[in-house]
Amino acid sequence: MKTYLVTGGFGFIGSNFIRYILDEQKDVFIINVDNITYAANPENLSGYSTNYKFYKTDISDKTALSKVFNENKIDCVVNFAAESHVDRSIADPGIFIKTNIEGTLNLLELSMAHNIGKFLQISTDEVYGSLGETGKFSEETCVSPRSPYSASKAGADMLAMSFFHTYNMPVLISRCSNNYGPYQFPEKLMPLVIINAINDKDIPLYGDGKNIRDWIHVSDHVKGICLVLDKGKFGEVYNIGGDSEAENIDIITYILNKLNKPHSLIKYVKDRQGHDRRYAMDFHKINGEMGFLPEYNIEKGIDSTINWYIKNESWWRKILSGNYKDYYKKMYENR
Ligand code: NAD
Ligand code: DAU
Repeated sequence: MKTYLVTGGFGFIGSNFIRYILDEQKDVFIINVDNITYAANPENLSGYSTNYKFYKTDISDKTALSKVFNENKIDCVVNFAAESHVDRSIADPGIFIKTNIEGTLNLLELSMAHNIGKFLQISTDEVYGSLGETGKFSEETCVSPRSPYSASKAGADMLAMSFFHTYNMPVLISRCSNNYGPYQFPEKLMPLVIINAINDKDIPLYGDGKNIRDWIHVSDHVKGICLVLDKGKFGEVYNIGGDSEAENIDIITYILNKLNKPHSLIKYVKDRQGHDRRYAMDFHKINGEMGFLPEYNIEKGIDSTINWYIKNESWWRKILSGNYKDYYKKMYENR
């Protein structure tokens, strides 16, 4: 039995990872460490109780976190826990430093003290900065973050790599592009558009709507993570991408067409400050070394995601009726 400490397991990608690994592998035990921020939802893992344990713990609280390491024999740490929304980082950067940098440092120090066999830092293409019309991010691209969120993720990556070089710790880093799929919190573009369209509500589109993201279905990301865990070389970075670049306006138009909603719902609003223009991932390395290829094309992925949000209305209605209302008002009312 292999024991994984997974942080942020009640969030979007962490919960998809835990469900996948518990469904697919019989010989794993998962310890989920999550302090249940606004982005967490314990319902994401309802029904999962075998080979699974949960600690409501903040990774930036080292004393509380050390209890988890003292009470369990952990083989591998997978760090998903983070403040993850760029717009929130622009409004209030402090918590991003605390969770994404200090939290990662605590995990690294405790993992070293407990001789953990593997430490995977879940990172993002945003650490590379912004692309023009051509080119892609490779693992050799210089890190050049441009938002407080991406700066905090880049800081965490550098700390993780410093533990490999300085202490010979078994560190791996994966960097992925924009995820979408089931259980994504409605603040992010794809679920926001689907939900607003279902509710016949305006869809805020930043700037000229032509910013490009490289979309990947979360299940492809999760499979890439499993490959990195299985076959990754310590001290290496692995890009994971979806091979699906699209302008925001095209994503929104596609969703509106699928839901038979009018394009008049689209409202161009003030641009995000420092808005990165384009992301695109070169993932030759993980493809060549491990055979990774995304299974979803973007149409199939969006169609199944729309269906999931239609079938799971009670999941997102509960979120919409809570604190999210205040967030939405603050972020969009006078934009
Ligand atoms: P999310 O916001 O949906 O979930 C984050 C989870 O972390 C939540 O359950 C939250 O409660 C938990 N958390 C936050 N602060 C914590 C703390 N101090 N202690 C313990 N738990 C804490 O995020 P996500 O979209 O699932 O992203 C997961 C990871 O993947 C992040 O590290 C993010 O940077 C990275 N990533 C995300 C994407 C994407 O498109 N969403 C793409 C690439 C990489
Ligand atoms: O690239 C990986 C990153 O993708 C992850 O590291 C982040 O955690 C994740 O949040 C995501 O960041 P983005 O900023 O790219 O995602 P977001 O869904 O916030 O926005 C996607 C694009 O859509 C971006 O160009 C901004 C635009 N947008 C977003 C929202 C929420 C809008 O036009 N209107 C909106 O209301």
